[in-house]
Amino acid sequence: MKTIRTIKELKKELSRCRESIGFVPTMGFLHKGHISLVEKSVNENNITVCSIFVNPIQFGKNEDLGRYPKDIERDSIMLEKAGCDIVFIPDTSEIYNEQKVFLNIKNLSDSLCGKKRPGHFEGVLTVVCKLFNIVRPHKAYFGEKDYQQYIVIKKMVEDLNFDIDIRIGEIIREEDGLAMSSRNVYLNDEERKRSILLYNIIQFVRKSSFIGQKTEELENLLNEYLIKNMDNSIIRMDYAEIRNDIDLERKKTISENSRIFLAFFVGNTRLIDNGRIIL
Ligand code: PAF
Repeated sequence: MKTIRTIKELKKELSRCRESIGFVPTMGFLHKGHISLVEKSVNENNITVCSIFVNPIQFGKNEDLGRYPKDIERDSIMLEKAGCDIVFIPDTSEIYNEQKVFLNIKNLSDSLCGKKRPGHFEGVLTVVCKLFNIVRPHKAYFGEKDYQQYIVIKKMVEDLNFDIDIRIGEIIREEDGLAMSSRNVYLNDEERKRSILLYNIIQFVRKSSFIGQKTEELENLLNEYLIKNMDNSIIRMDYAEIRNDIDLERKKTISENSRIFLAFFVGNTRLIDNGRIIL
């Protein structure tokens, strides 16, 4: 596996490549979720490129940019083992040089994480667009855990006529159901135990719903569940919403496209999760 730090060097390396390129953009501190995307790319392409770049412009002022976990050595070992060909690790100055153009998307980023983290998707779209232009992949891989991000990126690719196939990799969970995330490392023992609430909520709505049911009725059940099961001293809800997973709109009735979207603070750590309601 080659480690490349500059755009020039990466472009040179890839210019020789006439084969299909798969791309997995990440912010590093990799876990099995990232690796499953890399493995998918390795299976579906001749060359796999993974980027590790903690993108400053997708973090809000009071978020965790300054303490975002990092372990490039461990990441490199994991990537090499998964069959990745090139890891691209640029400095911030390599990616941003007095950037004046920022991408935005209407409607799809007004809700859920877009509403709670203003500017977040602008930062994500801008960096992903730049990385797509640098790597020029045929396929790019994103995790289902960040489902709204996947939808927003798919729309960018469609609207800006990128010739890239956007692929999704399923959520990889710990044994007790907690979705794998680089941010799980922030949790202390007590918080780690409580963080299982997110997966329990998904399981609860799966048990309590059926196609054709009124969304409002399921939301009422969900609220009752949250009142009973949420310990406010450690866990704080950011949002728990039922939306259609094609346009992220709230629909009147539950269908096979209904998905629950969750964001909770467990201590100071913000965790997200989601899942189809009807399996
Ligand atoms: O999902 C992430 O890790 C990031 O949002 C991404 C897509 C690498 C852009 O910085």
